[in-house]
Amino acid sequence: MTALLEVQDLRVAYGKIEAVKGISFSIEEGQVVTLIGTNGAGKTTTLRTISGLHQPTAGSILFKGERIDGKPAHEIVRMGLAHSPEGRRIFARMTIEENLLLGAFLRRDTPGIQADVERAYELFPILGERRKQAAGTLSGGEQQMLAMGRALMSQPKLLMLDEPSMGLSPIMMQKIMSTITELRAQGMTILLVEQNAQAALSLADQGHVMEVGRISLSGTGADLLHDESVRKAYLGED
Ligand SMILES: Nc1ncnc2c1ncn2[C@@H]1O[C@H](COP(=O)(O)OP(=O)(O)O)[C@@H](O)[C@H]1O
Ligand SMILES: [Mg+2]
Repeated sequence: MTALLEVQDLRVAYGKIEAVKGISFSIEEGQVVTLIGTNGAGKTTTLRTISGLHQPTAGSILFKGERIDGKPAHEIVRMGLAHSPEGRRIFARMTIEENLLLGAFLRRDTPGIQADVERAYELFPILGERRKQAAGTLSGGEQQMLAMGRALMSQPKLLMLDEPSMGLSPIMMQKIMSTITELRAQGMTILLVEQNAQAALSLADQGHVMEVGRISLSGTGADLLHDESVRKAYLGED
C-alpha cells in the first residue's frame, strides 16, 4: 500500500541556514501522525514546505503517489492537502462565515460549499451561532476552531494542523483535541504539529520527535509517550 504522504530526505534552508536537515516520514490514509519538538526544531518549516510555501533544497514529497515539491501552493490545495497555519491567521474584520468561505476559494460547487459550511457549524456549533460576527470577536480557542473549519472547506484528504493548542486554556485544548479525534473517526488523515507532546502523542498513531532539523526518534504514540527520553525532554519529568 502506498502512503498518502511520503516525505523523503527533505532539506529546507533559509539562505545559508538549514532549518530542515534531511527528514523522512510517511502517513498512511486514516492515520494521525504527529511531529513534536521544541521551538525552532523545524516543524513549521516542514509543514509550509509540504504546502508549497517553501521550496526544498533537496529531497522529495509525494502526495497520493505524485511529486508535489515544486508545485504551486494552490495546486497542492486542489489535490486535497489543507493547512491550518501556526497562529491561526484568521481575518479579524471579516465574518466567521466569510472566513470559512475563503477555505473554499478553489471550489465552484455552491450547493456543496453551503453543505460544508453547515458541516463546519455542526462540528463547531459556536461558529454557527456567531456566523455573521467579525472573526476578531472570537476567543483564541474559537479562532482555532475557525482556522480548522476553514481548512476543512477545501475538502482535504490530508489535514495539517500547526500547533492548534497554542495559547489555549486546558479546557479549550481538550475540545480541540477531541475534535481531532472526531475527525479521525470520520476518516480524515491528519498531520499534527504540537508542542504539547502529551496531548499529541495520546491521540497519534505515529509520532516523530524533531530536534534542530532532524528526526531524532520515531514510534507509535504510545511508545513515545512511555519513552524515558521523551518523558524527560517533553513531558516535564525528571
Ligand atoms: N522566515 C524565516 N527566515 C529565517 N529563518 C527562519 C524563518 N522561519 C524559521 N526560521 C528558522 O528556522 C528554524 C526552524 O523554525 P520553525 O520551522 O519555525 O520551527 P518550529 O515550528 O519547530 O518552532 C529556526 O531556527 C527558525 O529560527
Ligand atoms: Mg512552529
